[in-house]
Amino acid sequence: PDVLGDYVHHVPLNDLEALELTMREHGHEIGAMLIEPILGNAGSITASVEYLKGARALCDEHRVVLIFDEVKTGFRVARGGVQELMGVEADLCTFAKAMGNGYPISAFAGREEIMRLIRPGGVAQGGTSAAHPVPLAAAEKTLEILDETDALERIADYGTRMQEGMAQILSRKGIDHVFTGHPSMGGLFFLDEVPTNYRDWADSDYTLYNELALELNDMGILCEPDSREPWFISAAHDESCMTETLEKFETALAIVLDRQATKA
Ligand SMILES: Cc1ncc(COP(=O)(O)O)c(C=O)c1O
Repeated sequence: PDVLGDYVHHVPLNDLEALELTMREHGHEIGAMLIEPILGNAGSITASVEYLKGARALCDEHRVVLIFDEVKTGFRVARGGVQELMGVEADLCTFAKAMGNGYPISAFAGREEIMRLIRPGGVAQGGTSAAHPVPLAAAEKTLEILDETDALERIADYGTRMQEGMAQILSRKGIDHVFTGHPSMGGLFFLDEVPTNYRDWADSDYTLYNELALELNDMGILCEPDSREPWFISAAHDESCMTETLEKFETALAIVLDRQATKA
């Protein structure tokens, strides 16, 4: 509803000046700043470390609770999520997807003095399936595997090599491209510079991406057909997946470019 807009200030990602101005004018009435440092629903466009450090300092100065949405980055980009990756700690953070490896579970965590407010007579927290033992058991096992194996290093390495392969194919066709985010959840943009906020995605031409993704889907490469979704790598992806993905990426690109040339 429009009325919600009265309670929220939107500031573009990576614009520290705009954030500073907002905090200076409204910091006394702002309860929390919510940010997803790698935009998992906008092509993995990423906050710079400098921006996150600036946001952390402004939140401290204005006594604003800093919340990181780590639903997509948590237990994926590093064992300690985006906070470990970027070296900036939030006051509260949310987790879900990777921690349950497909099982329905989410969690939030934070500084002790905030978490201790959640108690009978304090802040209420509950839900029909909260703390359900089946997803909890799945999450416990998943976290054990992430802790004790090199799964996260492997998906990052796989993503890096896949992007290198895709970059070679795109460069051979003379197509401008950049990758965003972390290689375990990388975004692909057909731009000549790295996008830095959501507006850059909204203003970009993603027709080539959309056509390419649909072609890949038809060939059995199940990247998201929505250009806002990064390419999430799974620890189950192996070298045969890599070869198949790159071969089909090249074929699909040729088909789409031919089709576009015929239409033009
Ligand atoms: C980054 C991010 N945050 C939050 C959510 C919402 O999570 P939930 O469906 O548990 O409310 C999603 C859902 O996909 C998400 O991608």
